[in-house]
Amino acid sequence: MQYDELMETALMKMEEKGALKRYTGKGAETGYAGRYNREIFKAFGFKFRMIDAVAADTSMTLFGRQFKTPVMCAALSGMTDITDEPLAKIAKGVSEAESLMWVGITNEEQFSSVLATGAPTVRIVKPFADMEKMYGEIRQAEDGGAFAVGTDIDFFFGGKVGERMFAPAAMGPKNSEELKELISATRLPFILKGVLSAEDARRAVDLGAGGIVVSNHGAAIIDFSAHPLEVLPEIKEAVGDKIPVFADSGFLRGSDIVKALALGADAVCVGKALIMGLAANESDGVREMVEILTEEVRRIMSVTGCPDLSSVDESILVRRNLFLQED
Ligand SMILES: Cc1cc2nc3c(=O)[nH]c(=O)nc-3n(C[C@H](O)[C@H](O)[C@H](O)COP(=O)(O)O)c2cc1C
Repeated sequence: MQYDELMETALMKMEEKGALKRYTGKGAETGYAGRYNREIFKAFGFKFRMIDAVAADTSMTLFGRQFKTPVMCAALSGMTDITDEPLAKIAKGVSEAESLMWVGITNEEQFSSVLATGAPTVRIVKPFADMEKMYGEIRQAEDGGAFAVGTDIDFFFGGKVGERMFAPAAMGPKNSEELKELISATRLPFILKGVLSAEDARRAVDLGAGGIVVSNHGAAIIDFSAHPLEVLPEIKEAVGDKIPVFADSGFLRGSDIVKALALGADAVCVGKALIMGLAANESDGVREMVEILTEEVRRIMSVTGCPDLSSVDESILVRRNLFLQED
């Protein structure tokens, strides 16, 4: 299926199941941050650099392993209102597309079924107030064969969608010492997800984090949260090439993804678009969606004169403040 067919089929099937409302990405309170997570992409366009351009290569190496694409799955959980065994099905599609799987809230059985697909998988543990629970899940991930682990630090005070709070009592903020202990509790790379300032990015490096995800959690933390595209340049300046920088929140097309790569991300995690692939056509739909987005990224890289991911930088972008209103 093509992108629009996948999206239309997904919307139809989710509507039938009454599942659509949960995946709109509206975000906290007034929903402004949720809308902004899409609007922001209009603030950048691409230059053409055709002379001597070659067909681009989208492959990348991460923690010593080769991937075909910088388009990865966001840390996901739940989704049983869409299909049974959603995480394992997404993992299968992601694995077939030679990309990286990320999971969030899960249990041992579900996590084993994800790993059984052969997908290299990052497990993002919740920042529980109970540190022992975190250590337990980190150990479980490591013993099970996770590719990397981490925690979503933006969830220290819980999440919020509309007026509804998510799990504030079970979560708890962590200081530098506690994060350092968590990071050194595993031999795996430990990723801090939900970094949205150069200050936190710098600290993440100092604490020994293996990577960061620049994210506003799909607008589900606070309204008016910054978007990753707005802070990626300062974060890249703070972090340099010391650790990989991932981005997520609102990425739906290859063009969105290339904008983040140009502003300093090494790879982009995609949540809702892959969920649409899942809803449309199970694991095949997920594989198709990763492949379609990768092909879009590859084509834009070729046209903007970037033969490989290391050559994608800000010089391919124009900034604009004139947006077309039709959509
Ligand atoms: C159904 C669903 C479940 C999610 N579960 C988690 C989770 O358990 N842990 C986490 O850190 N993020 C979780 N997220 C947030 C995503 O990792 C990501 O930050 C967010 O969806 C933004 O990306 P998107 O706009 O491409 O969906 C979840 C998102 C969705 C849509």
